[in-house]
Amino acid sequence: MAMAMAISRFLTALVFFLGAATVTVSGFNVTTLAFDEGYSHLFGEGNLVRSSDGRTVRLLLNRYSGAGFISSDLYHHGFFSASIKLPSDYTAGIVVAFYTSNGDIFPKTHDELDFEFLGNIRGERWRIQTNVYGNGSTSRGREERYVLPFDPTKEAHRYSILWTATHIIFYIDKTPIREVVRSDAMGGDYPSKPMSLYATIWDGSTWATSGGKYKVKYKYAPFVAEFSDLVLRGCRIDPIQPVPSTDHCMEADGDLMAADFAVMTPRKRAAMRRFRERYMTYSVCYDALRYSGALPDCSIIASEQERFWASGHIKFPARRRRSRRQSRMPSAADRMSQPIV
Ligand SMILES: *[C@@H]1O[C@H](CO)[C@@H](O)[C@H](O)[C@H]1NC(C)=O
Ligand SMILES: *[C@@H]1O[C@H](CO)[C@@H](O)[C@H](O)[C@H]1NC(C)=O
Repeated sequence: MAMAMAISRFLTALVFFLGAATVTVSGFNVTTLAFDEGYSHLFGEGNLVRSSDGRTVRLLLNRYSGAGFISSDLYHHGFFSASIKLPSDYTAGIVVAFYTSNGDIFPKTHDELDFEFLGNIRGERWRIQTNVYGNGSTSRGREERYVLPFDPTKEAHRYSILWTATHIIFYIDKTPIREVVRSDAMGGDYPSKPMSLYATIWDGSTWATSGGKYKVKYKYAPFVAEFSDLVLRGCRIDPIQPVPSTDHCMEADGDLMAADFAVMTPRKRAAMRRFRERYMTYSVCYDALRYSGALPDCSIIASEQERFWASGHIKFPARRRRSRRQSRMPSAADRMSQPIV
C-alpha cells in the first residue's frame, strides 16, 4: 500500500513536471516547425548540426567559421520565435543573433528587427540587445540593452519577435520586454517590407564585450548555440518574385493581429514595465548625447529616466549574488593571451 502510494505520488510528480515543461516550452499558442519545414542553411559549412528528429539545430563557432540559417521564405509581418540555449563559460566576443532582415534584397533601404546576445567573460552574464531599423535607417540605431533574470546557458528560453502593421513586440518567454508602436512620425523607420528570419553565431571580438576589450578565445571552442521550438507565422512571400507582392496578406495579417501574442493586455503591459525597471541597462530613448531630441517612438517615463545617465546607461546596475567560482576574475594569463584569429 505504502509502496503503491509512493509510486502514485511519484507518477503525479512526474506528470506535473512533464506538464509544466510542456507549458514552458510551448508558451504561446503556436505550432513549431522542423528545420526543413521552414529554414535553410545560410553559412558555416559543417557548423550547423541538426538533431536526428530535425527539430533542434546547433550553430557552432570555431576558429574557422561561425554559422547561420535563414527562413526559406520572406514574411510580410509575422511572429518569429525560437527557444535558444546559449554557450556557457568563457564567451566574450561572441555574438548570437536572432533577427529579421531584408538586407539581401534591399541593401540601401533595408528593414531589420534584432535580438542580439552578447557573450561575456567567465562569471559575467550574457547581455541582450534589441534594435529596430526601417528603410535603411542605419544611422539611427534604436538599441536597448538588458541583463537577463536567468542564466541563458543553463536551459533554453523562448525569444520572440512580433511584427505587425501597427506594432512590434519583443518577448522573452511570455514576458513582453519592448513594444514599438508605429506612428506617422516614425515614417520609413518602421519596418515595412517583407523580411526573412535569420539566426547566426559569429565573432564580434571588435565590439561585443566591453567595447572589444575581451575577444573570442578559441581555446574554448566550439561555442554552441542551440535553437529549438522553431516558429514562423505570418504571410509568406515567395523570395523568387522580383518585386515581392503583399496583396494576399490581408487574411494572414488579421490572424496575426488576433493571436494571443499580438494583444497587449494590461497584465502584460505591467509585466513589461517590471522587466524594464529591473533589467534594462541602456535605452536609446534616454541617450541625450546621441540624440538631442528623443526619437519619435520613445515614450519618456520620468521615473524611469531618473535612473539613467544622459548617456542612456543605467546609473546603478542591479547587483546580483555570484558564487565564488563564478566571481573568479580573469587571471593575468587570461588577460594577456591573444585571440587566435
Ligand atoms: C490556437 O490557434 C489556432 C489557430 O492557429 C486556433 O484555431 C485555436 O483556437 C487556438 N487555441 C487557443 C486555445 O487559443
Ligand atoms: C525609403 O527610402 C527611399 C530612399 O531613400 C525613399 O525614396 C522612400 O520614400 C522611403 N520610404 C519610406 C516609406 O519612407
